[in-house]
Amino acid sequence: MAPRDRGPEPGERRWTNHYVSALDELLYLGGRPSWELPEVSSLHRLPPRATLARSAVRLLDGEWDFRLVDRPEEASRALGLRRGWDSLAVPGLWTMQGFEKPHYTNVVMPYSERPPSVPDENATGIFRRRFTVPHAWRRKRIVLHFGASEGALYVLLNGEPVGFSKDSRTPAEFDVTELVAHGVENELVAVVLRWSDASFVEDQDQWWHSGLSRSVVLYAGSIGDVFAQASLDDGYRHGLLSIAAEGSLDVELLDPRGRTVFTAPLEDGRLDRPLRSPRWWSAEEPALYTLVLSGDDERARCHVGFRRVEIRDGRLLVNGKAISINGVNRHDHDDVRGRAVTRELMEADARLMKQFNVNAVRTSHYPNDPYWLDLCDRYGMYVVDEANIESHAFYDDVCRDPRYAAAFVERVRNMVERDKNHPSVIVWSLGNESGYGPNHDAAAGWLRSRDPSRPLHYEGAIHGDWAGGGHATDVVCPMYAPVEAIEAWAAQAEDDSRPLILCEYSHAMGNSNGGLADYYAAFERHDRLQGGFIWEWIDHGIRQTDERGREYWAYGGDFGDVPNDANFCADGLVWPDRTPHPGLFELKQLAQPVRVEPVEPARGRFRIRNVLSFASLAHLRGEWELGVDGDVAKRGRLPALRIEPGEALDVSLDLGDAGPGERLVTFRFVLRRETEWAPTGHEVAWQQLPLPSRARRAARASRRAAAETDEAFLLGSPELRAVVDKKTGMLTELSRNGRNVLREGPRLQLWRAATDNDGLRLIPNRAAGPLPGWLELGLDRLDHQVAVCNLAGDGGVEVVHEVSGRGEWGDARHRQVYRLLASGGLLVENEVLLGPELRDLPRVGVVLVLEPGLDRLAWFGRGPWESYPDRVASTVVGRFESSVSDQYVRYILPQEHGHHCDARRLALTDDAGFGLEVAGRPTIGFSASHFTAGDLYAARHTCDLEPRPEIVLSLDHAQRGLGTASCGPDTSERYRLLEPAYRFAYVLRVTWSRQEKPGS
Ligand code: GAL
Ligand code: MG
Repeated sequence: MAPRDRGPEPGERRWTNHYVSALDELLYLGGRPSWELPEVSSLHRLPPRATLARSAVRLLDGEWDFRLVDRPEEASRALGLRRGWDSLAVPGLWTMQGFEKPHYTNVVMPYSERPPSVPDENATGIFRRRFTVPHAWRRKRIVLHFGASEGALYVLLNGEPVGFSKDSRTPAEFDVTELVAHGVENELVAVVLRWSDASFVEDQDQWWHSGLSRSVVLYAGSIGDVFAQASLDDGYRHGLLSIAAEGSLDVELLDPRGRTVFTAPLEDGRLDRPLRSPRWWSAEEPALYTLVLSGDDERARCHVGFRRVEIRDGRLLVNGKAISINGVNRHDHDDVRGRAVTRELMEADARLMKQFNVNAVRTSHYPNDPYWLDLCDRYGMYVVDEANIESHAFYDDVCRDPRYAAAFVERVRNMVERDKNHPSVIVWSLGNESGYGPNHDAAAGWLRSRDPSRPLHYEGAIHGDWAGGGHATDVVCPMYAPVEAIEAWAAQAEDDSRPLILCEYSHAMGNSNGGLADYYAAFERHDRLQGGFIWEWIDHGIRQTDERGREYWAYGGDFGDVPNDANFCADGLVWPDRTPHPGLFELKQLAQPVRVEPVEPARGRFRIRNVLSFASLAHLRGEWELGVDGDVAKRGRLPALRIEPGEALDVSLDLGDAGPGERLVTFRFVLRRETEWAPTGHEVAWQQLPLPSRARRAARASRRAAAETDEAFLLGSPELRAVVDKKTGMLTELSRNGRNVLREGPRLQLWRAATDNDGLRLIPNRAAGPLPGWLELGLDRLDHQVAVCNLAGDGGVEVVHEVSGRGEWGDARHRQVYRLLASGGLLVENEVLLGPELRDLPRVGVVLVLEPGLDRLAWFGRGPWESYPDRVASTVVGRFESSVSDQYVRYILPQEHGHHCDARRLALTDDAGFGLEVAGRPTIGFSASHFTAGDLYAARHTCDLEPRPEIVLSLDHAQRGLGTASCGPDTSERYRLLEPAYRFAYVLRVTWSRQEKPGS
């Protein structure tokens, strides 16, 4: 760019006019608004280049002057105003710093214009700051780098037009050598337009934000682009390092310990160097070499890793070995900063993923901050790097629109050039949900020629036809396919030479990830099913405080943003503060590197299998524990785990003599030494296996018969007094020594506070799942009328309720028989008969309301975290303690939570041990809460919930599985309640003190 007349010094009046023309020169190209001109996606932007750590850098982050105008046309004038500037933190978004609100939509655009037009009301942010450059930069080439800007970016320096760039999630770099003033202050202006033609290819399912979301830097020096490819030979033994770079450079390679491997100059910008047996890079053992580049006036470095990616015989191979993808989709999200994420936050994400056995990330749906890739290189995580392209609202149009062809190619190229040296990137993705058209094939063609070393991925190419799309995708990468569908594919698609990796599945919205174990079983059964990426890593909640000072996470609509998709953005495995959802533990267990198989369990013989592809299990220490009726009867250590990948080791445990009681053996595997991502002793894997057991005898019936008054039946023993009211058929008292534990119940409960998978209650037009049917039946408002309340023949009391939520008394019939046991307990036998329309119910069980104060919870059953019939893999059967308050799981949209499957026994007591004990016959599911299902269902945010002092105890014979129907297949029939009749029983006891032995 030719230098223009330098103009006046900052602060002088004449600046104003000069600015007007400079900005307008960029805003209008040939007299037309450049922000509605998709053919031109950038101007004067430097060709994209690889990320390098450089020696001469000046960071321009910090507080910038800032002002906002309503439309781009007003920007030039506003630029000249002396007053009225605010300030804004950069990197940062004005939508998160008090100027304008974020807006959440999934598919639809937030406005009604069609591509490439955008609304006239188009908030335009003006950022301004001063800087000086070091003396030493006088004769150097100077590059201005914007890591990312949310919205189209227009840049001026010292009043001169610099250029513009529209791809909001890759760096916009400009050569400003000729424009920078030395020895005096420079004035930099960045103008960001909220909407542009580019918005139509940035329609990802997330918050719309605006601002400068990544760092702004200047760097100086002559080192340009560098392409470093570290590969392996055909025998996977020796390495080959190929470097192509601009300019004359000296190269030094350092091994993972920092020792020099070689130094050499580039010749004609190239170097090809074989290497004897380098250490490999893989997610399991990420050996990183460092490349140091020295130019005339600059040094730079980047990491390289020797590894080779191929697709062969229908498998994705790394270094010749098939890998398993235990993946997640990751968005950049922070609940305070929005998409402007910090390094600390990315580090926290990476560590947490590694701690939870996640080994792969799809950077949905745009290239993440390059620091994220540094972390993946270093910690070991495979990356599907995705280009910043999604035209969801105009799914089939934009991909065929020739005006957007250049934008597609450029966006793919911006990603590839920036990230090409990262060993963690094993697959390139052309973007997401943009149909499939010639614009994709153009981008794919460019990519295949530029980097043949990595396979391509694009879901749109196989959408609707898994056999198609070969130009644009080397993996069959469907989203939300049912297990049956992927298994059927694996069994049939012999002529397709591609592997199948789900690009999205197991939608983690709210209380979710039901059925994950079934996917993992399918991955294990079929070699060509190589795993997938769960949707998604994090809930995109935004932290807010209500009028009463309570924090909560906001979602679509909470900022007056219309249209919106409500809480559909709260669908992660972790909360916005990075606390794991219970579902993340399920993934961790299924993705663990160790499997234990029974060989001859009765004699203590088991097989320990290493399911990794590269690393031995020697870094783990194994322990076992024998539980008898929940008590630890024995424990021991496993021998050293020198087990190579794919191999197994048989072990014999000294389990002692088998007495009576339920016997379970639990294995745990922990880190022997600390790693970059976890301390010594961190638990990596666990598994529980049953041993042959002999059950203890159940308690006998007592000889005490019920007594009768005008109003009630009484069942009494020294340890317990139960009163059944004749009018309501409910227990009105359950007491001991005059102290009552019960307020109400047990009452038939068929309803649960619908999960997001049961139905999207805030997005009714997208109703999926069974919720609408349940509401029609009135399951949320059941009435109970007594049909029978009698003495039963054998001294018990029989009560039958007719139950309906819509006045159709044939809907459900609930029969309960109460009987005293010799042990002092009260046996409650239940029969539930359902009318023909009552199928596929949320739950079948009873609810009891207990007196306040019985907040201590102890149970022997599945734990420690909540479990549901289709999400039990991560739980073990054992004894657990908690409190009712701690049972609350704060899903962003309040919903059913805290259920525990298969409890043998549970107790709710006060500190002294007085309270209620329940024993399943043989097991019962339960949850204990300070909220009713109705409280949870009525709430919109966590701060709407007011805990009740009393305790709501749900005893469930069965609950519907969780499934993932909020986006994807509904709960498998195996985990649904489809029967016309259910029978179950449990025993109630009132406990008096902590010393008392539990009953049976
Ligand atoms: C997919 C899409 C994601 C997200 C998800 C639902 O179709 O690729 O971006 O919208 O569904 O949460
Ligand atoms: Mg989408």
